[in-house]
Amino acid sequence: MNRIGDSPDFVPSDPLTDHEYDGIREFDNPTPGWWYAFFGATVVFSFCYLLLFHFSVAGWTSEDTWADDQRAEFKRVFGAVGQLKPDDDTIRAQMDNPQFMTIAKATFLGNCTACHGRDGGGLVGVNLCDDNYKNVKHISDIYKVITEGANGGAMPSWKRAFSDNERVILASYVASLRGTKPSAGKGPEGDPIAPWPAAKPK
Ligand code: HEC
Repeated sequence: MNRIGDSPDFVPSDPLTDHEYDGIREFDNPTPGWWYAFFGATVVFSFCYLLLFHFSVAGWTSEDTWADDQRAEFKRVFGAVGQLKPDDDTIRAQMDNPQFMTIAKATFLGNCTACHGRDGGGLVGVNLCDDNYKNVKHISDIYKVITEGANGGAMPSWKRAFSDNERVILASYVASLRGTKPSAGKGPEGDPIAPWPAAKPK
């Protein structure tokens, strides 16, 4: 069998290394400098990328951008309604605002599911879908619990985490969970309360 290098005309461009394994020989043909330079550049790049996009040194992570976008969106959406009053009528009325309920649902999923479950069925926290409540008699009490917390901090206060308007629509969202069927609902805690008032005609 003819092999490259067997031909008398063959002139190797690089010198051969002096080892040979099973008849296979190797040119002394090192990886070019530009390859190392490129490799080095990717390492430097990934290090900067890590700092900027994972450790938030400049506020460029996806979470930062998302938070910025959300703040801008809240400004836009809430700008039109001004300050929402945390009273029964206002909180009841927001349940019929699909845009607010979408925003509040995202807030709920991001902050409340660890204790109340994704669908509000209750884990460490109580079931928010049934008719029994421990701290709530009126729909506005939900706002109070979210704002102040309950049971010595077992239910944390969210006063600092969210603006007044955010807590109002969050209360509306929690109220809207009542009567829904969670996949795994915790047993009732507290006392059954009267249904929420019907929506006021606009
Ligand atoms: C660290 C766990 C935890 C987190 C996170 C949490 N909760 Fe709670 N929550 C509880 C516990 C525990 C209770 C029951 C308090 C009690 O025993 O009085 C509760 C009670 C409540 C109640 C009153 C229910 C009732 O029957 O009186 C509401 C409303 C509520 N939580 C809403 C929320 C919302 C909205 C969020 C997210 C912004 C949230 N919770 C996040 C643990 C939590």
